[in-house]
Amino acid sequence: MNVIKHGWGYDTWLADFENERERRAERGDPDWDRAAALPPELVRSLQRFQVGEDGDGSALIGKADRAGDPVYARAVRLFVAEEQNHARMLALLLEAGGAGILAGHWSDTVFVRLRRLLGLRVELLVLMVAEVVALRYYRAVRDGGADPLASEVARLILADEERHVPFHCLRLRDALAPLPAPARRAAVTAWRATLAAAAAVVAVDHGPALRTLGVRRRSFMADTVRASAPMAAAIAAAGHPDTTDPAGPVRAPRGRLRAPAGRSGRTFAARARRGGGV
Ligand SMILES: [Fe+2]
Ligand SMILES: [Fe+2]
Repeated sequence: MNVIKHGWGYDTWLADFENERERRAERGDPDWDRAAALPPELVRSLQRFQVGEDGDGSALIGKADRAGDPVYARAVRLFVAEEQNHARMLALLLEAGGAGILAGHWSDTVFVRLRRLLGLRVELLVLMVAEVVALRYYRAVRDGGADPLASEVARLILADEERHVPFHCLRLRDALAPLPAPARRAAVTAWRATLAAAAAVVAVDHGPALRTLGVRRRSFMADTVRASAPMAAAIAAAGHPDTTDPAGPVRAPRGRLRAPAGRSGRTFAARARRGGGV
């Protein structure tokens, strides 16, 4: 996974999210009529992740709207739709396994309240904690051999999460760019410390499920923290020409990508350099 996709601005990301929506519609859903044989530990774990994936995203969308870049704001709406699709698929997987969903979970309540207190910049840093933990978790479900349907759902969700991380990294890099280098380094150090703490909480809370998937708690934590190193470096690397050079091209990386008319990430980067709101 490239932490920052070379040459991708927000218009490229918007095109990618739009194309992914089309691909999803063409592909259709997994066959939910297949019964899923889910161990009880995995059911409890998936139920908690389902709560975490669910939400209307209104706070994030509102902050993205106020940031003043309509292209980015449209991409954020499609990002939220992908997260809601994760919640929907996990609910259907649980149903196929004969289990229901939870009305809520304390970890999600804490997470949502924390995010709502914050501006877009810090909200994205908190959101990125969940995204990076999710990368290791869904990889474990995909590869753990618990059940073919669970594996397929985890594969589909993981493919989205692997796109979400570079999307957020781009925005965070641009958002932190106006800060002095020591402040950027402090921000990413605090982010990695928060991530390590969150990975530890998830490793303990979901330890029994991880064990059924063949992943030890310690490995889950170590893998998660290790994966965050290139992300932290990319977020802290202000002034990269991909998004901050006003003359720099924004290329469509695949044939099917369509770049919509509108403002690109360069607009936001210029705004960020002027110290505009994030
Ligand atoms: Fe997700
Ligand atoms: Fe995600």
